[in-house]
Amino acid sequence: MTHPELTTLQHDAAAAIATAASVDALEQVRVEWLGRNGKLTGVLRTLKDRPLEERRTFGAEANALRVELEHLLSAKQKQLSAKPALPVDLTIPGITPALGYPHPIRLMLERIENIFHGLGYDVAEGPEVETERYNFDLLNVPKDHPARDMHDTFYLTQRGLLLRTQTSPVQLHYLETHRPPVRVIVPGRVYRHEATDASHEAAFFQCEGLVIDRGIRLTDLLGTFTHLFKSLFGSKVKLRFRPHFYPFTEPSLDVDMSCTICGGKGCPSCGQSGWLEMGGSGMVHPTVLENMKVDPNVFSGFAFGVGVDRLMMLYEGVGDVRRSYSGDLRFLESIHLS
Ligand code: DAH
Repeated sequence: MTHPELTTLQHDAAAAIATAASVDALEQVRVEWLGRNGKLTGVLRTLKDRPLEERRTFGAEANALRVELEHLLSAKQKQLSAKPALPVDLTIPGITPALGYPHPIRLMLERIENIFHGLGYDVAEGPEVETERYNFDLLNVPKDHPARDMHDTFYLTQRGLLLRTQTSPVQLHYLETHRPPVRVIVPGRVYRHEATDASHEAAFFQCEGLVIDRGIRLTDLLGTFTHLFKSLFGSKVKLRFRPHFYPFTEPSLDVDMSCTICGGKGCPSCGQSGWLEMGGSGMVHPTVLENMKVDPNVFSGFAFGVGVDRLMMLYEGVGDVRRSYSGDLRFLESIHLS
């Protein structure tokens, strides 16, 4: 441009077009410069008042400027109305991270632990890889006793090592670091070489209990068991104690609870008997007390073992123990949300 007036116009108009942020704003810019009362239009109107020699060049340059601005406007118009290459919709809900849930067995153990905490019990753990000595010998299970076969043990290749078949050996470990009076429960995983079905797994959970003090009697055991099951399943449940045999207790009792599914009338879950077997128990055998270096003439005690999987299944209404080890998140979710 040779006319300074037009150069300023060109500069200002180009800047206004470049900074227009929307199609509407751009239209305002167009009206402001090229509209009927626009700035460039106004300048063109002054043409007739200009000296003759100026008119030709000024007129030609002003028209060239008009064409240039129209081009800039239409290019900017295209740019503003084009869709963004990657549309971002900030209103779309985000991806919620999947939540984990505590396993129902873990929840069951916590309920049991809470009940026993209330009775002043300690909670202890023991090794899952055991020696024959702790799993059987010290618990008064003779070498040729069928209980060793009954438990269908997983023996490890190293002689004398096995996967514990019961939590009872922790009784002996605990007494190595604690002296009577003791009250302890031992939740933990145990292993048996068994075919699995709806109520059997090769790995499952037990909770052992042990009380040793002066003057502990069988009625203490009955009261403790009654408190445990009524706390878990409500005051209506009934308990039945049956004589049984365990090498580490004498006398020994198995405890049955009235079936919580049929209320004791008889149904497929309780084999029509109205009763469910919940665990074993008894007064600690004098030989086991001696193995703990506890004098049976001074102290007595009771012990018990309950199946945690079975408790969980009854508590949550789960029909097949294998579901709880399936790793299926829907199972955990259904228990959590029910
Ligand atoms: N250890 C037994 C089992 O696995 C359960 C048991 C019975 C534990 C009697 C005890 C007990 O402490 O006194 O079958």
